[in-house]
Amino acid sequence: MLFRQLFDQTSGTYTYLLASRRGGEALIIDPVLEKVDRYLQLIRELDLKLVKAMDTHLHADHITGLGALRDRTQCITVMGEQSGVDVVSMRVSEGDRLEVEGVALDVLYTPGHTDDSYSFLLPDRVFTGDTLLIRGTGRTDFQNGNPRAQYDSIFGKLLKLPDETLIFPAHDYKGDTVSTIGEEKAFNPRLQVQSVDEYADLMNNLKLPNPKMMDVAVPANMHIGLAQDEVARRGWAVTPEVALALLDRADVVLVDLRERREREKHGSIPGSLHAPYRDLREHVCKGGMLHEIATTTGKRVVFYCAYGERSAMAVQAAQAAGITSACHIQGGLDAWKKAQGPLSP
Ligand SMILES: [Fe+2]
Repeated sequence: MLFRQLFDQTSGTYTYLLASRRGGEALIIDPVLEKVDRYLQLIRELDLKLVKAMDTHLHADHITGLGALRDRTQCITVMGEQSGVDVVSMRVSEGDRLEVEGVALDVLYTPGHTDDSYSFLLPDRVFTGDTLLIRGTGRTDFQNGNPRAQYDSIFGKLLKLPDETLIFPAHDYKGDTVSTIGEEKAFNPRLQVQSVDEYADLMNNLKLPNPKMMDVAVPANMHIGLAQDEVARRGWAVTPEVALALLDRADVVLVDLRERREREKHGSIPGSLHAPYRDLREHVCKGGMLHEIATTTGKRVVFYCAYGERSAMAVQAAQAAGITSACHIQGGLDAWKKAQGPLSP
């Protein structure tokens, strides 16, 4: 496996780049905006294709690189389903698997530092965000933090992993880079408590100042901006209500860009074609399946995904490839459901 731990000195943030091989697909965890050029340079040098960028939670101490990476690589942006952040194009929850070629992360919901905190697990290592730090734990006094939830996340989930599991946190301020579950169990001062009450007392009395960047970073991270806005301006978007009228029309092909797991979990629009976003380029280029459908049958290609972000990027790629009828359902399946659109299981 290709594994890189990158560091942002200003915020003390660790960012992780993972791929199974040189030349393959990559994912990045907790990217920092100011470091995006550095990540992209490394991705080029290692001949990787960035396909997913995810944040473990809504950060209060730095501006996320998710939006910039989306704009520059058309990657899928991922966060937990509790997150209210607008840039997200795929949301995950406990028990999901997050995959790129040759790498599969198990998704653990580990709230407490924030209510949208997740950890991501590989067989030998876990990315703990700010839930479990090296000899510390993430503060629980803002952003819907909750020390009792954090206790459950740490003692009920993370510390149940094998002792030799490596811990890679989202931050460190002392220069430590990695720990293990066994080491933290034994030496993390916050974990030497006898009960959830004792842990809550400890966390409620830390009296920490707010992070310097908090008033800037939190609102900025909530609204990174949508790929959808530009597409709507160009007239390449339809509302779910308009899309409802396109159902069953012979001159329309609805294309679901989500992954198989998302379709199984949330259902799909009846009669829609499945063409995952990762294969989009080959489908829309000349000779590709969607290009052929559009040019030989004259059907209008209507993309959709979970929230409309992937489909907005797909419309732009399809239009650039000459599929001039391409549009997408604004707001994705989420908006479709709210408009009472029918679903196939
Ligand atoms: Fe945090």
